[in-house]
Amino acid sequence: MIFITGITGRVGSSAARYLLKHGLDVKGLTRDSAKAIDLAALGADIIEGDISDDTLIKNTLKGVSTVLLVTGNGPHQLEAECLIARESAAAGVQHIVKISSMEASPTATAPIPVVHFKVEKYIEEIGLTYTFLRPNFFMQNLMLFAQSIKMSDQFSLPLGKAKTGIIDANDVGEIAGIIASSIPETSSVRKLTGGTLLDFHEVAELISNELGKLVTYNEQSHDDFHALLARTIPSPWHVEAVSLLFKEIANGALESTTSDAEDILGRPLTDVRGFVARHKPAFIR
Ligand SMILES: NC(=O)c1ccc[n+]([C@@H]2O[C@H](COP(=O)([O-])OP(=O)(O)OC[C@H]3O[C@@H](n4cnc5c(N)ncnc54)[C@H](OP(=O)(O)O)[C@@H]3O)[C@@H](O)[C@H]2O)c1
Repeated sequence: MIFITGITGRVGSSAARYLLKHGLDVKGLTRDSAKAIDLAALGADIIEGDISDDTLIKNTLKGVSTVLLVTGNGPHQLEAECLIARESAAAGVQHIVKISSMEASPTATAPIPVVHFKVEKYIEEIGLTYTFLRPNFFMQNLMLFAQSIKMSDQFSLPLGKAKTGIIDANDVGEIAGIIASSIPETSSVRKLTGGTLLDFHEVAELISNELGKLVTYNEQSHDDFHALLARTIPSPWHVEAVSLLFKEIANGALESTTSDAEDILGRPLTDVRGFVARHKPAFIR
């Protein structure tokens, strides 16, 4: 039995679909089971509740061999993920697959990668067999600008000419599913990136080619980005966390690629054009 914490999320739902398609038993956690009706119909056992509820987590982990640990970012993430890790070890879980991030390192300063690195260290210390998957920038972040691209053929980010190895979260989920399908003899860390480093002018060119219209990327100032976050995101924690994360990305935190993602998937990764083609109605009038 494989337990997926964020089963309704981008990575968790893709991993669940892969595992169910391959005949594996899956259970998953959400705060709202109505969001997981399609996954329940495919055979997933859906548990409704909060990731910080330790009685629920203890009960859920009974009989689980592998945990896919993927959680939305927030002030609760460190404590909640450490709780899952600790109870997984106590329940005899044989393999924990953690969705981390490529910026997770001892030198990270932004809260999100700092938390990922602390959870990684905690899992190592308690002696669970682990696979840490550290993805680069998700293509799904482009959906935040879909409306701007649709209405005014442009989008803005405070990333200057920094590059990322942008990757589809669906591919990351499928990779997580593949990794969760077996119990490895040794722990490992895999960095999941697209095959090509691209700055956002290059991303805009690929979007333009796919949509058949000129889309422009504006290099936004960090202050303007911060003000936009403060206007649109209700949680002050998220405003600061995202703002600091984008400063690290602007300074080149995501400027490296590996072949890990394609090696694990055994097929070409989704590229920017393929991603935009899949979501075309969101980008054109
Ligand atoms: N975005 C990027 O570019 C990027 C890149 C690298 C790594 N990452 C990492 O990827 C992770 C996010 O993955 P994702 O994009 O698949 O997530 P997502 O789509 O935002 O979904 C978050 C999932 O977590 C669940 N969740 C959140 N709070 C919960 C709580 N209190 N109790 C129970 N469930 C809870 C949600 O369930 P419900 O809402 O259904 O309850 C949902 O299933 C983050 O840790 C992030 O740092 C992101």
